[in-house]
Amino acid sequence: MENKVSIGLLGLGVVGSGVINIIQSHQEKLRHQLGAEVEVKRVLVRNLEKARHANIEASVLTLDPEDILNDPEIDVVIEVMGGIEIAKEYILKAFAARKHVISANKDLVAIHGPELHAAAEQNKCDFYYEASVAGGIPILRGITDGLASDRIQRVMGIVNGTTNYILTKMAEEGMSYDAALQEAQELGFAEADPTADVEGLDAARKMAILGRLAFSTPVDLGDVKVSGISKITSEDIKHGNEFGYTMKLIGYADFTNQELDIHVLPTFLSNSHPLATVKNEYNAVYVYGEAVGETMFYGPGAGSLPTATAIVSDLVAVIKNIRLGVSGEQIVHYYFDKELKPASKRFSQYYMRVNVKDEAGVFSQLSKLFHDYEISLKRILQSPKDKNKTAEIIVITHQTSEENFTNLLEKLRKLDAVNEISSYYRVEGDGAE
Ligand code: HSE
Repeated sequence: MENKVSIGLLGLGVVGSGVINIIQSHQEKLRHQLGAEVEVKRVLVRNLEKARHANIEASVLTLDPEDILNDPEIDVVIEVMGGIEIAKEYILKAFAARKHVISANKDLVAIHGPELHAAAEQNKCDFYYEASVAGGIPILRGITDGLASDRIQRVMGIVNGTTNYILTKMAEEGMSYDAALQEAQELGFAEADPTADVEGLDAARKMAILGRLAFSTPVDLGDVKVSGISKITSEDIKHGNEFGYTMKLIGYADFTNQELDIHVLPTFLSNSHPLATVKNEYNAVYVYGEAVGETMFYGPGAGSLPTATAIVSDLVAVIKNIRLGVSGEQIVHYYFDKELKPASKRFSQYYMRVNVKDEAGVFSQLSKLFHDYEISLKRILQSPKDKNKTAEIIVITHQTSEENFTNLLEKLRKLDAVNEISSYYRVEGDGAE
């Protein structure tokens, strides 16, 4: 390897510009760490004329991906263009040309990660994607290196900044969901089409990647049960708060006895849970290891420079591997088979808000059903809605299986006395005493 490493960058948007800025401004540190200069040799763009947030010579820009994929002097390709099929095609071509690849593309890795790793391994290439999960937080390396010696049992994450921003504004300023979403869009956190964020799909992709690395088992995106935040009301947030809980969109993955429970669901977290303190657009990943116990990794989940630090750290790892002659060792290995944990073994506490007729005997009908399904109540609040002779009952249950809770919901919906099950959410922890 020469004293210069040449990089090809696929894409020059917010993150790509950040990569160039970090490589340029940290050149001296990179040279000390690597004993080599890092040069961004070519950058693939869609428009040569567009103004850029990076100091880059016009001659470096190209519209032709082959200028990068066929250049024998380029050792490492950094994919920050997004999208799935074309990005996959370019990455597979890069591996075939024996180039190492770094990607920030969670959608691609969540769906095609196993195939891309196989191609990387076959060509003795590295494939790193630290930036794909929780932006600037070094969580993939935290799991694969920092906690390599432990058996990780559970990963819980706030891995979507947009939804965390919206929920924080709803909780702290009493904003409606729509107003908080609009503010997030005005500030540039939320996309014009916010579906992937607010419906939990973005978080599900990140959880699939985290699950594979944490548990060394093949997690498919389809294994992740998903529900988003678009139906959450300020009313539920307020009631949860009265009981000592904070609403968060939680990615949850648990692997015990080779049984996997993985989901992204709105969850009331006890205010004392470390993740409950994570506010605004920040991300955090809580990892519980058999030996280490509780750990939490906190930081910015997006943004030009935070995301670029993750990419350039991957670049440092790739270049060190080249120098040591150990390229091609993949960061994920599937040592364990997995079964999806059945609903009868998935346990949680639940919050439920039910609208009922305000008549004698209604509560006893409800409590009989709770008894039938062996669901014990931890907290109860009832408020009459006098105008229309209805009442709202809000409960928090003790731990119960998802199977029992689902069966209870089905029976409750059939009761004449129940007008509506307005909402229900998972609950973690004890809330206020
Ligand atoms: N849209 C993501 C978020 C950032 O809101 O966290 C990129 O993964």
